[in-house]
Amino acid sequence: MQKLIIDGGRPLRGEVEVQTAKNATLPIIAACILTDEPIVIENCPRLNDIDAMVDIVRHLGCRAEFSGNDLKVCCKDVTVDVINSDLTGKLRSSIFILGSILSRCRKAYISHPGGCEIGLRPIDLHISGLKALSVNIEDDCGVICCDGSDMKSAIVNLDFASVGATENLMMAGALLDGDTVIVNAAREPEIVDLADFINAMGGKVSGAGGSVIRITGVKKLHGCTYRPMPDRIVAGTYLAAVTATGGSVTVKNVVPEHIFGITERLKKTGAKLSVRGNAVRIVADGNPRALHKLETNVYPAFPTDMQPQFCALLSVATGSSVIVENLFENRFGYTSELVRMGASITVKDRIAVVAGVDKLHGASIKACDLRGGAALVIAALAAEGRSVVYGIEHIDRGYENIEREYSALGAVIKRVGGRDIGA
Ligand code: EPZ
Repeated sequence: MQKLIIDGGRPLRGEVEVQTAKNATLPIIAACILTDEPIVIENCPRLNDIDAMVDIVRHLGCRAEFSGNDLKVCCKDVTVDVINSDLTGKLRSSIFILGSILSRCRKAYISHPGGCEIGLRPIDLHISGLKALSVNIEDDCGVICCDGSDMKSAIVNLDFASVGATENLMMAGALLDGDTVIVNAAREPEIVDLADFINAMGGKVSGAGGSVIRITGVKKLHGCTYRPMPDRIVAGTYLAAVTATGGSVTVKNVVPEHIFGITERLKKTGAKLSVRGNAVRIVADGNPRALHKLETNVYPAFPTDMQPQFCALLSVATGSSVIVENLFENRFGYTSELVRMGASITVKDRIAVVAGVDKLHGASIKACDLRGGAALVIAALAAEGRSVVYGIEHIDRGYENIEREYSALGAVIKRVGGRDIGA
């Protein structure tokens, strides 16, 4: 069992380059199925989640190979086969691939992805959205069977601005005659990136980034080379870490407006941030102020994927903070591990009250989900003494070589592999 050994209590200094966005690259890989021509995805992040999506498109007969940092995908031959639970279990959000398979093959079969550590992850909005496009959907013993023989464009309203459901419908409409209009679409930057990618393939998607997206179907899409956007959550994680440990770091390869909801709240903790082009410089003293209330919501509000990381930095803040998690019903699992490090956190349903303490101490802790794991790393970097972080396969789903990246900023962090013989 691999683990991270972190000797905390040191400020972070230097500069770091942000990786390409996992949550933009995943739907873009799925969208490669929309064409039989070769696609090159430049600077593709090397992550467990990306590998899981590559496994899925390969399972469908596509070729997908890494060449350096680029991922070359060619879906010349797509075979409609059941995307089984071994595949969907590793990547529950892969449900958005239905739209691209239906666009290309008019038939799709996928095992119900099921829930995960942070919530039930229902797919009702995906199903109702595809049904609005006249896809016939049946659940056959946990396998979702989609028949798109009679698919046609339509206006689709999403009861909730779901990121994945929006992506599913964008891909479902890309090759459909007429206009598919998504009302109450998700507005996340990753949605804009997917629209830009489909348009780079010769598609016609407009309105992405707003609440109404129009997809005018085209007869065929062609290959292209595309570099997805930088990862706004990885960027925010660096900034939250410096706020907790103190130091001065320049975070490069960011889109400032993508992380505005994050930087504005870090400023309220007392960190000093300045934007220079596509870089953000942060200077912090490691004694953040508490935030009276921090609520997660859909973009451009404060992102749920940054909630655990902020909880870690608020654990060592002066004063108490209230965190409200409005997106996922079970996203405070990591807080029990922070309490083992000396944090003072009370959780009730979707609310956590964080009473800042002067210092955390190192401990043996276990990550149970991706962003919760990032929070444990931040806490260990800020804590006095040594921490051992287990469950780092969760962290590797979204952070490329986390120990290399934070070591370059002066952190004392190393990955230890092999079978664990005790803490
Ligand atoms: C995407 O998940 C991201 N994943 C998540 O990031 C992110 O937390 C989430 O959007 C919200 O921003 C990827 O992009 C791969 P949703 P997604 O559909 O698409 C409810 C990470 O850490 N809902 O916007 O699954 C759902 O229960 C991951 O990188 C329904 O009720 O998110 C949740 O409460 C974690 N019915 C809310 O919507 C549905 O059919 C947000 O879900 C679908 C969703």
